[in-house]
Amino acid sequence: MKVYADYAATTNVAPEVVSEITEVLSDHFGNASSIHHIGRDGRRILDQSRMKIAKILNASPREIVFTSGATESNNLAIKGVAYQNQHKGKHLITSSIEHHSVLHVFEQLEKEGYEVTYLPVDAQGFVTVDTLKDALRKDTILVSIMFGNNEVGTVQSVDEIAELLDDHQAVFHTDGVQTIGHMPIDLKSLKVDLFTLTAHKFYGPKGVGLLYVKDKTPLQFQQLGGAQEIKRRAGTENIAYISGMAKALELATDNIEQSSLKLIHLKQHFINALQSYDIPFELNGDMNTSLPHITNLYFPFSDVEKMLTILDMNGVFVSSGSACTAGSIEPSHVLTAMFGEHPRTKQSIRFSFSHQMTEEDIDYIALQIKKIYEMNRNE
Ligand SMILES: Cc1ncc(COP(=O)(O)O)c(C=O)c1O
Repeated sequence: MKVYADYAATTNVAPEVVSEITEVLSDHFGNASSIHHIGRDGRRILDQSRMKIAKILNASPREIVFTSGATESNNLAIKGVAYQNQHKGKHLITSSIEHHSVLHVFEQLEKEGYEVTYLPVDAQGFVTVDTLKDALRKDTILVSIMFGNNEVGTVQSVDEIAELLDDHQAVFHTDGVQTIGHMPIDLKSLKVDLFTLTAHKFYGPKGVGLLYVKDKTPLQFQQLGGAQEIKRRAGTENIAYISGMAKALELATDNIEQSSLKLIHLKQHFINALQSYDIPFELNGDMNTSLPHITNLYFPFSDVEKMLTILDMNGVFVSSGSACTAGSIEPSHVLTAMFGEHPRTKQSIRFSFSHQMTEEDIDYIALQIKKIYEMNRNE
C-alpha cells in the first residue's frame, strides 16, 4: 500500500484542472500581448481567468497580479513595499514562524539597512495582537504575518491584525498559501493590502500563483521588461496554468465545507488510532483551531530521520519541518519559536491530509507508526 500524506507540501492536480490546462495549451496558445486574432484569443482566456479568480476572492480583477508562485509573490510583496515606502521609515515586522520565502527576504533587507522585528509566538504558534501592538512604531512601513502556518497549521487572527493596522501607515501582507480550500477567503472583508497564494497547494499546477495588491497599495514592482500585468510583472503570462489555477480555485472553494468536515474527521480518526495503539505522542499546535489538513506530532521515541526513512520504505510519504543538513538534523524554526530548545523541534512529523484520503489510508499510517514504536521498544 502507498499513502501520500504530504498535501501541505504539494497536491496532485485535479483531473478537471488537467483538462482545462490541456485544452488551453493546445487550442489557445496565443500570446496575450499580441494584437492579432490568436493573441486576442489568449487575452480572452487570461481576462476570463482573472475575473473568475477576482470574483471568488472578492477582489477587483486589476488587483490580481499573476506570478510564478508564492515565493515570487512573497518576495514582491515584501521587497516591493520596503523599497517603495522607505522614505516613510525602515522598520518592518514579521513573525518568527513564517515560510522561508518570507524570512529570507527579511534577512536580506536587514543586510540592506532595514530594521526587522520578528514577533514571537506562544506554544500554540499564535502571534498575539498585543505583541504586535507593542512592536508597532511610527516608522513601521510593513507588517507581514502569515495566515495559516504550513508546519503546524496555526491560523492567525488576520482580521484583528488588519483592524489594528487600519489607521497606521504600515502595509499589511499575509501569506495565505495554506488557507486556500480550507477557509473561505473574502479579501474585501479581510482588509489586508497584500495576499499571497499558489496553485499547487489546492490541486492546481506548480509554478503559478498570484499576489493580490489592494488598490492604491504602494509597491515597487520587481520584475522589469514587457508591459504585462499592467506593467507590474513583466514576462509572457502562462495562460494555460493561470486558467488551470482559476479552475482549481473554483473547485477548492466550492468544496470547502465538505472537504473540511472530511479532514477534521480524518484528523480525529488518526489521533484515535494512535491512542488505541498506546503510541506516545504529543500534538504540536491546537487541535480545534488549526487548519484541518495539518496534523503535526511529536514522537518522543524515535529519531525523525529514521522514522521518515522507515515510513518511506513502507509506502508512507510525509515530511518534517526539520531539515537534514550535512548529516545532522536542523531543528524546525517553527517548533523552535513555539517551544524553544526542545527535542520535539527535531522529533516531529507533519502529516497533511487530503479530502481524497480514506480511513483505510489513515489506519495504514497509524499501523506503520505502531511498528516503528514497537521496533524502538525492543531495540
Ligand atoms: C506558507 C507557504 N508560503 C510559501 C510557499 C512557497 O510556495 P511556492 O512553492 O509556490 O513558491 C509555501 C510552499 O511550501 C508555503 O507553504
